[in-house]
Amino acid sequence: MSFLVIATWEFALPGLKEAAQHLADNGSCLDAVEHVVKTVELNPDVESVGLGGFPNKEGVVELDAAIMRGKDLGFGAVVGVRQFIHPISIARKVMSDTPYCMLVGTGAEDFAQQHGFQKGELLTDQRRQEWLERKQRKSLADTGHDTIGVIALDLDGSMACGTSSSGLKMKHPGRVGDSPIIGAGLYADDDVGAAVATGVGEDIMRCCLCFYAVELMQQGKTPQQAAEATVTKAHTRLARTQKKIGNIALVCADNKGACGAAANHEGFGFCVASSDMQPRFMTVEPISSSE
Ligand code: GLY
Repeated sequence: MSFLVIATWEFALPGLKEAAQHLADNGSCLDAVEHVVKTVELNPDVESVGLGGFPNKEGVVELDAAIMRGKDLGFGAVVGVRQFIHPISIARKVMSDTPYCMLVGTGAEDFAQQHGFQKGELLTDQRRQEWLERKQRKSLADTGHDTIGVIALDLDGSMACGTSSSGLKMKHPGRVGDSPIIGAGLYADDDVGAAVATGVGEDIMRCCLCFYAVELMQQGKTPQQAAEATVTKAHTRLARTQKKIGNIALVCADNKGACGAAANHEGFGFCVASSDMQPRFMTVEPISSSE
């Protein structure tokens, strides 16, 4: 049995290196996923996740996060959480300590408070300045979003995945993206594999992107074939009725440790490490139907 950890975007690399060591030392896939996500949540330079995330149109940072365990389809998510540093850990607590899958807004914040999760101001001075400038320009449109999404396979053959996001810049308060939505932003099933998505949540959730990618792997496609077929199908289906399609990308992996990635736009990349591969960052060419 070999281990694998794969994550969206280059900002995952420092945490992914540590998670790879943890998995090599027989650590669990859930701990690996949570660790990578937490390192990104804590990085104030990442404008799309956690501390330093871009605020909603009222200048408040609202976070979504989710985690899934492939062994028993365990799932936990929190939505629209304010002033908590690590929503991924709250999501994990929802999964492990409650009969529920998802808590939202003040209910999620009360739960986090009761369980002693760390509170803090998420809006940095830099992001506040950028928010003020956007507000003055009345600039609301966004074509992309760089969600942290992580998949891990451990030496026991168990899989987990997780996501965390501050959502689209200048979003309406209460707007929810794909990241905490099971089957859209993430999915994991030890019988097959797992997938995580990044990009514009509305377009991703319309296509149930991650569940579809895992289904294709179940039907026999390799992770790379599944990733390309999923993004191609979503893009071409949306193109029939939408003038403008947001950025969509995903990474996926099967339960043997093979992985794949695809995007409908330039500039997407992912980090990966395994029993056979040192941690590295790789870029992805857009699928041809998006040209
Ligand atoms: N993909 C994250 C979001 O749309 O909020």
